Amino acid sequence: MHGVHSDVLEKKQPDTGFDIHPVIRKRWSPRSFSERPITAGQVKELVEAARWAPSSMNEQPWKYAYALRGTDGFETLLDFLSPGNQPWAKNAAALILMMARTTFASNGRPNAWAVHDLGMANAQLVLQAAHRDIYTHLMGGFDKEGVMQFLGPGEDIEPVCIAALGYLGDPDQLEEPYLSRERAKRIRKPIDEILVAI
Ligand SMILES: Cc1cc2nc3c(=O)[nH]c(=O)nc-3n(C[C@H](O)[C@H](O)[C@H](O)COP(=O)(O)O)c2cc1C
Repeated sequence: MHGVHSDVLEKKQPDTGFDIHPVIRKRWSPRSFSERPITAGQVKELVEAARWAPSSMNEQPWKYAYALRGTDGFETLLDFLSPGNQPWAKNAAALILMMARTTFASNGRPNAWAVHDLGMANAQLVLQAAHRDIYTHLMGGFDKEGVMQFLGPGEDIEPVCIAALGYLGDPDQLEEPYLSRERAKRIRKPIDEILVAI
């Protein structure tokens, strides 16, 4: 598979009981990123995929802010990440701040589905990335208050997560505990635990 770090890649491909879409099987959240950069145009393509997600009232509550590695914006976003995320996320080719507008633009009422709908858009973004061999790692571990202060007062925008993304790198560049996690098999609850017939 792509010739790079194929031992890890193979391990990350789950045995799915069904013929799910190959790109869904392929996606996983790495911590090792290569030095190969990605461009603003590539980030735009991923957000184009996100744009076409369904949303309550077609509100499209998602907002994204990105920074490419080597820019001041990248350092700014990196600084907001929790200490457990910074050591590996610093090697990502880009960071994307993923936000949701929590009220409906038309009437100002709370949008109870805003974070759900951002999640739908994010799912499309990460799958489009996997399609391009770009791997994403979403993080809830960041200083949300700090990001909100940085954004300044404005519309009801909630920072929900920050994604690290890039091409896969050599897992051996990671230190513990990240190295073992990089080599671990992906696990999920059994389907009967999450699906019932009523
Ligand atoms: C909203 C969200 C927040 C997450 N926060 C973190 C985080 O702060 N740090 C981290 O290392 N991984 C984080 N993850 C990654 C999950 O741990 C990972 O998706 C999960 O273990 C499943 O692994 P997989 O994505 O490789 O299938 C987060 C994922 C999501 C969707």
